[in-house]
Amino acid sequence: MVPRYFEDPKTLHVGTQPNRAYYKGPRSLSLNGEWDFAYFNSIYDVPEDIIAQGKLPGTIPVPSVWQNHGYDRHQYINVPYPFPFDPPYAPHQNPCGLYKRRFTLEDDGFLRHLNFEGVDSCFYIWVNGNFVGYSQVSHCTSEFDITPHTRPGQNELAVLVFKWCDGSYLECQDKLRMSGIFRDVYILLRPEKHIRDYTIHTDIDKGEIRADIDFYDGIALPLTYKLYDPNGSLIKTQDTAIFQIESPVLWNAENPALYTLEMETAFETITERVGMRRICVENGVVKLNGRPIKLKGVNRHDSDPVHGYAVGYDQYLKDLTVMKRHNINAIRTSHYPNAPWFMQMCDEMGFYVIDEADIESHGAVSCTEGFKGEQWNLLTEDERYRDAWLDRIQLLYERDKNRPCVVMWSLGNEAGWGANVENALKWLRKADTSRLIHYEAISPELPHPDELDTVSHMYAATGWIDEYCQNPENKKPLVLCEYCHAMGTGPGDLEDYQQRFYKYDNCAGGFVWEWCDHAVLVGITPDGRKQYHYGGDFDEHINEHDGNFCVDGLVFPDRRPHRGLLEYKNVLRPARVFIDDDKNFQIKNMLDFLDLRDYIDIACEITRNGIEIYRGHVATPSVAPHETAALSPGLPKDLPPDDVYVRFIYTLKAQNALVPKGHVVGFDQIKYTNKSIKNTADKCSIPAPNYEQTETAITITGPNFRYTFDSLTGLFASMVKNNKEIIQKPMQYNIWRALIDNDTRHMKAKWLEWGYDRARPRTYNTTVTTLDNELIIKTSLALSANKKQRFMDINAEWRINGEGHIACRMEVARNPLTPWLPRFGIRLFLPENADVEYLGLGPHASYVDMRHASWFGLFPTTADRLHEDHIRPQENGSRCGVRWVKVGSLKAEANETSLSFNASHYTQEALAAAGHSYELQKCGHIVLCLDYMHSGVGSGSCGPELLPQYRLDAENFTFELKLQAE
Ligand code: GAL
Ligand code: MG
Repeated sequence: MVPRYFEDPKTLHVGTQPNRAYYKGPRSLSLNGEWDFAYFNSIYDVPEDIIAQGKLPGTIPVPSVWQNHGYDRHQYINVPYPFPFDPPYAPHQNPCGLYKRRFTLEDDGFLRHLNFEGVDSCFYIWVNGNFVGYSQVSHCTSEFDITPHTRPGQNELAVLVFKWCDGSYLECQDKLRMSGIFRDVYILLRPEKHIRDYTIHTDIDKGEIRADIDFYDGIALPLTYKLYDPNGSLIKTQDTAIFQIESPVLWNAENPALYTLEMETAFETITERVGMRRICVENGVVKLNGRPIKLKGVNRHDSDPVHGYAVGYDQYLKDLTVMKRHNINAIRTSHYPNAPWFMQMCDEMGFYVIDEADIESHGAVSCTEGFKGEQWNLLTEDERYRDAWLDRIQLLYERDKNRPCVVMWSLGNEAGWGANVENALKWLRKADTSRLIHYEAISPELPHPDELDTVSHMYAATGWIDEYCQNPENKKPLVLCEYCHAMGTGPGDLEDYQQRFYKYDNCAGGFVWEWCDHAVLVGITPDGRKQYHYGGDFDEHINEHDGNFCVDGLVFPDRRPHRGLLEYKNVLRPARVFIDDDKNFQIKNMLDFLDLRDYIDIACEITRNGIEIYRGHVATPSVAPHETAALSPGLPKDLPPDDVYVRFIYTLKAQNALVPKGHVVGFDQIKYTNKSIKNTADKCSIPAPNYEQTETAITITGPNFRYTFDSLTGLFASMVKNNKEIIQKPMQYNIWRALIDNDTRHMKAKWLEWGYDRARPRTYNTTVTTLDNELIIKTSLALSANKKQRFMDINAEWRINGEGHIACRMEVARNPLTPWLPRFGIRLFLPENADVEYLGLGPHASYVDMRHASWFGLFPTTADRLHEDHIRPQENGSRCGVRWVKVGSLKAEANETSLSFNASHYTQEALAAAGHSYELQKCGHIVLCLDYMHSGVGSGSCGPELLPQYRLDAENFTFELKLQAE
């Protein structure tokens, strides 16, 4: 056995080099590639002698995690520890992987500094059979000087990685738990005398860039410094480390201007990118370069459905590209440092970063349930972990201290408060006075000490934000480090939060939880569907996984945007046009630095009844950040008097690093003239249809139709028109939706208790009369479920004219004791191949609270395209604000108000029953739900309850609908 460093929280690194800023220098030898590999279920199974000499049976790529290569198994668990809480010990059954590879060195006299950028969770290394050292802290760099152990020609490196160590108690992040060498490994070839470390300081007032150099072994070297401006032109060559720049170009996320500094010794040149910027808090307002900024952020994990934590350059680039294209300007590296070179990408591409230490000890809260005690203190006050806390903060700071994108440090996530945290914070405060420090300890009752610059909160309700920001006692800016939990269908409250962020100067914005769905791609079905697995799919014990709580991103694992990301994009649009009381258009610049005129072009599109009647270009006026100016769209004079909608579409004026010119960055649509009030009665000259009534049914016959009204359900059971059955099953009342993830926490139990999923109609009295040319059926009924009293009484009136057109009016009185409804409407089963077309909010799914990516228009579509294939199926794809929808030969039209509809190949029952999208079976119909209202979706899977204004909670309402079959 190796020395027991892995259970000794006082021995964190053995034989490693002191921490330094990340840079690579000009000479490096990558050790990425296929390595020899052996996996052992327990560290005690590793035969002593194979470390030094034996050949290993398998191979594995480096970087990778071994769970994705057939070893060990996956586990998804959120809060608790996946092993007993018994610090600093790891279970004896501690799996491990032994890695080996050969590499060739020249006889060049360079020092060999071996770097590991990330190994989960701890590792021992040997070179040519000699033990070199040990390190831990999964998401940080470990550097070893292996020079004395190497020789020219062939060498062998062996690395023994343990799945768990004492450090795992500080790495209890909400993620799939994976292991191995998951980031780059390389040897830096360094001259004997070299720059060991450097810190870049910038001062935007003085226009100064300064490098503080630390030499290897303290041996100072003559240096030449060259500074290039952001366009790449050489500003100056000099032998001192302080540059003065006249009117410096400042860095910000909208214009990420970077200087280039070359530090040249006789033996090598180190090149560094430098951003001039200053972040500070002034009177409770977060300011960059003296201007208030808003963080429009996401929380991002390193996660890939195939590669797990081993995220390559392309994946990082893709993430940044998709983010930029959706107006996101900030990233919190939840909950650990990302690859060091990712931070350089954020500098270049313009993102504000909250750089988080590799610390989370959330499991400490759930380990003592049933016991008394200060659960959080278990680790934060454990003296044995004092150094470990500090070490992780130091590793974070030293590695990333030269990155301008880092505007805030984060002490970690959900790790509680105590002496260990305090000690680390004190050190950081001293080390860096140029950045803000954030920390969310978890419990709001825990102290928010003065040393922290922000009050950081998760999942706060909008009302809480109002209270905090309006209270003058609160001196610190608020940051929502997590909000709008993007799990499943949602989030629905993005605009409500963004309104607050814009409204309050002392709110710096927030970070949606989270960027991507975590899941493991285990295969593809024969019909081409991706099989994504989540917690519980890997044989985990029922109490030791957290299901699909990891599937909560704005993008699918393969980075296709979810509907929620489209919503976020338009909520974050760079401009907002509105119409003032005098019917003048105004435009507001939502950016923090650029003049709107330099950023967007504007197109204008006018529609009437969804049909385009005009398209033109509007000159973007000059508007300073956060300011408003008049917009003169030059609309045509002869616009129709009613039903006119004007849409302003913003496109990018000039391409940037990640987004092409012309890319749509957002839009606003304005209702310019109101809908004309139509006479709602559908007059027709054909006489009223004939009818026959029995105790249970009414049969209605006209020239080319024959309908059956079921007097026991109060709905049509059959509608034959032109010898074709229109509805393939009897109509149903519909108050249920396939539960979305956002329903589970606050509503599921209440709804199921009332039996909303099992609601049945019961009629009391049905009459038929004829008036003018219409047949009128009146029926009174109730909906209820077993065990419970009625949840609503309905008085319905159905009018059928001689053409077979149906107009219905339902007066609904809801039992005030019942919880608010998921929806109210009727459900129809229509032929499965029918096309869909509608006039309403589209083209994307729209719910009362998630409608900002959609505009009012005419949209031809299909049930397949309306469906959003969430990894765990659930209600999705509804459209609201709909005037009419046509599915095949049936047209449904709202009366005065609008309706919501859903047209899907899947029933609510099928969506609810399937655990994975690849299990879904089409039902052979288009299931058309026509709703008076479909309640909002919110973000209650982790956030607050749905805001009251988005609930169907009216006690009395009237649903009117017209149905017309061809
Ligand atoms: C937060 C936590 C995140 C994640 C989220 C729920 O409490 O910081 O890591 O677990 O909840 O998805
Ligand atoms: Mg957590």
